[in-house]
Parts: sequence; structure tokens; C-alpha cells
Amino acid sequence: MATTTGIPQPSRSDRFTFGLWTVGWSARDTFGDATRDPLDPVLSVHRLADLGAYGVTFHDDDLVPFGASAPERDSIIARFKNALDETGLVVPMMTTNLFTHPVFKDGGFTSNDRDVRRYALRKVVRNIDLAAELGAKTYVFWGGREGSEYDGAKDIRAALDRYREAIDTLAAYVVERGYDLRFAIEPKPNEPRGDILLPTVGHALAFIAGLEHADMVGVNPEVGHEQMAGLNYVHGVAQALWAGKLFHLDLNGQRSIKFDQDLVFGHGDLANAFFLVDLLEHGAPGGGPAYLGPRHFDYKPSRTEDADGVWASAAANMRMYLLLKERADRYRADPEVQEAMVQAGVTTLGTPTLAPGETLQELLADRSTFEDFEPDKIGERGYGFVSLHQLAIEHLLGAR
Ligand code: GCO
Ligand code: MN
Ligand code: MN
Repeated sequence: MATTTGIPQPSRSDRFTFGLWTVGWSARDTFGDATRDPLDPVLSVHRLADLGAYGVTFHDDDLVPFGASAPERDSIIARFKNALDETGLVVPMMTTNLFTHPVFKDGGFTSNDRDVRRYALRKVVRNIDLAAELGAKTYVFWGGREGSEYDGAKDIRAALDRYREAIDTLAAYVVERGYDLRFAIEPKPNEPRGDILLPTVGHALAFIAGLEHADMVGVNPEVGHEQMAGLNYVHGVAQALWAGKLFHLDLNGQRSIKFDQDLVFGHGDLANAFFLVDLLEHGAPGGGPAYLGPRHFDYKPSRTEDADGVWASAAANMRMYLLLKERADRYRADPEVQEAMVQAGVTTLGTPTLAPGETLQELLADRSTFEDFEPDKIGERGYGFVSLHQLAIEHLLGAR
């Protein structure tokens, strides 16, 4: 829906979701105190609903403070459910905090202390039960503390064994309980640990392939996390889609290789954000959305912002996504772009290199593929990638 100002307004059908920890961040960082008061999750649910969001996601401890008694927990959950009922917001994803409490200083599933590992499993199981009760479809595993600072301090192969043991055990639990829940591993290269296990989408996909319930485990790639490793987020997401493993995603903004900035989506590498939205919305074979899950924002309202700024930044994420979607729609519909894509060969990459039924023997017998092939002549071809990209940027700038 567009307003008179031309800025699109989000609605439930856009399926925008936010972590309670995003808008709720009180902006304490390594160098400075909090600049905002903590937010009541019930207030966040109402404010996000008013802004046009579809749902919220959270860590166990975002809703129920660590160490709360059972009756306290029950009453907090009841009050939260009531807010969901009042607003119609849903909880499509949940996750566990295995990083804040000092007990997790050396990790949860991969702590060198076995008692901590056993406690971590219990903490997750308890919250998986709540996730199933609230109707969540995805359970995220972000192993922020699973890693090390010192190479001699962690046996990485043993740590990966313990990581696999944890995910296998928890997946078996979900299967046994008959919960309609899939797991999504969220890679990150570093921060808070010096080096985190499963640092990129590629590492996570390789790890997943060796799991007992690999079919129910995918990835939750985050824009900034791939970019912190100097990688291309669109490539990471595309490979996850290609592997059938894009179960969820975390949208935000990052400017180059530095600390995790968690800026508003699009406030980092804008061109990459444009091509991401284009991929998600138009990337299915033959066109149409390639990803049907929630568009989840995992950002932080900057420390400079006051309470009003928190909600303005939440709205900015959704506006940014919708503006980029509008731009990507126009880009795709533009006949000049379509022609440039043909010129660039973008569309013919989908054609298999061998003809239907053709064998390698037949390729070897085809003189045009080698003996009569003229590499110098064929090598003269220009692909026109720059012109195609310029068209994309002109669309992105609203010039077309
Ligand atoms: C981070 C991560 C987290 C996770 C969250 C959900 O860098 O702090 O992105 O925000 O997404 O813990 O698993
Ligand atoms: Mn992050
Ligand atoms: Mn994240």
C-alpha cells in the first residue's frame, strides 16, 4: 500500500518480524552504559503491531528474566500471550540465550565444562516446549559463545562433535514430541568470541550435512555476519536456497569488515540489499518469490536514539524493504533490463551445458567444442555486465 508521499506502508501480509531484543536493546555497549530504559515486551508487541509488523521473535530470557521462578514465568507468559491475542501478532521463531550469563563464558553446547553443556541442553529443551506451545515454526541456534580466543584452549574437532551431539539430541527430541518445528543455525565469524564455530553460511551447510536429522536443519543467515567476514550476503543466501536450506533470515545493515553494527536494513551496503530483495522476491525458477518465510529484522536501534527513535528505526527497516521491493519489481519489468540480461547471458546460464541425453563421449566427438572452437574470437565477446549493473543502480535510485 502506498501513501500520498509515495512511501509504502507495511501490512501483515508483508510478514515482517522483529526480535524483542532488537527494539528492546537498551544500548549498553563495551564502552558505555545504557542510553535507554528497558522495554516491556508487551509494549513492544503493541507498538510493532501498530507499525504493521506481523510477528515477534525472542530468546527465552528476553521474555522471562533469567532465574525467574516457575510461577513468575507462568504469569509473564500468560500476559505475553494475551498481548499476542489482542494484537494478532504471531511468534514464528524462537531461540535460546546461551551467551549472557557468566556460566556460558566458554559456550553452551561446546563449553569445556561438561556440566555447563548438560545445563545448556536443559535450557534449550525448556524453551523448545514453549516454542511449540506458541506455534513457532523455526528454532534458531546462534552460537555466539561457541568458540575461542586461544587456539590451544579449545579442541575444535571435539567441540564440533559436541555441537553435533547437541543438535542431534535436540532434533530427536522435537521428532519424538511431534513438534512442527525446524532448526536454523545462524553463522557469525566473531563477536563475542574471538573466533566462533560455524563462522559462515558455507561452514554451517557443511556441518548440517553430517547431522542425524539433517533434513530438519537449515540456516539463518544474517546480512552483517557474512559481511563481517568480507563475504557477499546475496551469494550466501543464494547458496542456502540452492541447498534447500534457507529456513529463516536476519536482515540488517553493515558497513564493511568491522564489529557487528546491526544497522537498519539497507543502511549498510544498499546495492547488496537491493539484489537480496530482488533474489527473495523474484528468484524462484521462472520468477516469483524464492523465499516464503518471514522477513525478520535483527538490528539494533543505534545508541544515539531515544525512545521515539527506536520506533522510527523499526519502521525504517520495513519501509526500506518495501521500497527495495518496489524498485526490484520495476527493474524486473523493464524491457531494457530484460534485453541487457539476455545480452549478458544471465538467462542462458540456466541451460544445461550438455544437451538433453548427450553423453561426454558425444561432447568429445563434437568438433565445435574444441577442434573448431575459436577461443580468440569467442574471447572477444563483451558481456555488458557494467551496463546491466548501471540499469540496476538507476532503478535503485528511482531514476527509471
Ligand atoms: C548477534 C546475533 C543474535 C542472534 C540471536 C538469535 O550477532 O547478536 O545476530 O542477535 O540473531 O541471538 O539467535
Ligand atoms: Mn548480529
Ligand atoms: Mn542475528
